[in-house]
Amino acid sequence: MSKITIAIDGFSSTGKSTVAKQIAKHLGYVYVDTGAMYRAVTFYAMQNGLICEADFNSKALINQLPKIDINFKFNKDLGFAEVYLNAINIEKQIRTLEVSSFVSKVAAISEVRQKLVEQQQKMGKDKGVVMDGRDIGTVVFPDAELKIFMNASAETRAKRRYKELLERGDKVLYEDVLKNVQERDYIDTNREDSPLVKADDAIEIDNSNMSLQEQFDMVMGLVTNTL
Ligand code: C5P
Repeated sequence: MSKITIAIDGFSSTGKSTVAKQIAKHLGYVYVDTGAMYRAVTFYAMQNGLICEADFNSKALINQLPKIDINFKFNKDLGFAEVYLNAINIEKQIRTLEVSSFVSKVAAISEVRQKLVEQQQKMGKDKGVVMDGRDIGTVVFPDAELKIFMNASAETRAKRRYKELLERGDKVLYEDVLKNVQERDYIDTNREDSPLVKADDAIEIDNSNMSLQEQFDMVMGLVTNTL
């Protein structure tokens, strides 16, 4: 059976990565978490003093982009690929609320997007890939055979994210998580370069009231119809 490209876009914390990982595993496809790549660049900027307080030095970050090497390595125990920044595993460090609070500003820089989109296109060139993000169906793979746009209310998404952070042992307030989700929605949909928007040919799924199993079944149904 010939392989296809599956693009899953949507707002933050809509459960894109959960369903994308399940589908990739089921089909034996490669899963690429493009949000992790933008988070890795943000983490680099934080580590290198380019972000202080609410501001960051975007010029310095652009100049240092050639020094940023992002890679994924499959972790058999976890069943998915973890992200590496300059050969160091940073999978855990990039999921904090602090990284979340800067990532959308970093992701709005065109030079950052150019570098990451190029790498994403290389990773998916042979198809057989499930890629999740904000611009996969519109910019990275506009010809993807299957495009899905995930959505859920901001409150539902913030509750999910809050639970995840608590489970990791992070001490956060629900109000801060909700504020972060709303801020990222705003920046991601209003930026000039590749704003978050549903591709015309994407199928929208609102999973506010869906179980993981229902969501998986629905997406697998779409995949089966596309293959
Ligand atoms: O998917 P995740 O929530 O980890 O993404 C973090 C941030 O990275 C998003 O809020 C968005 O600003 C940015 N992003 C993007 N384009 C993508 C993936 C993520 O701009 N393809």
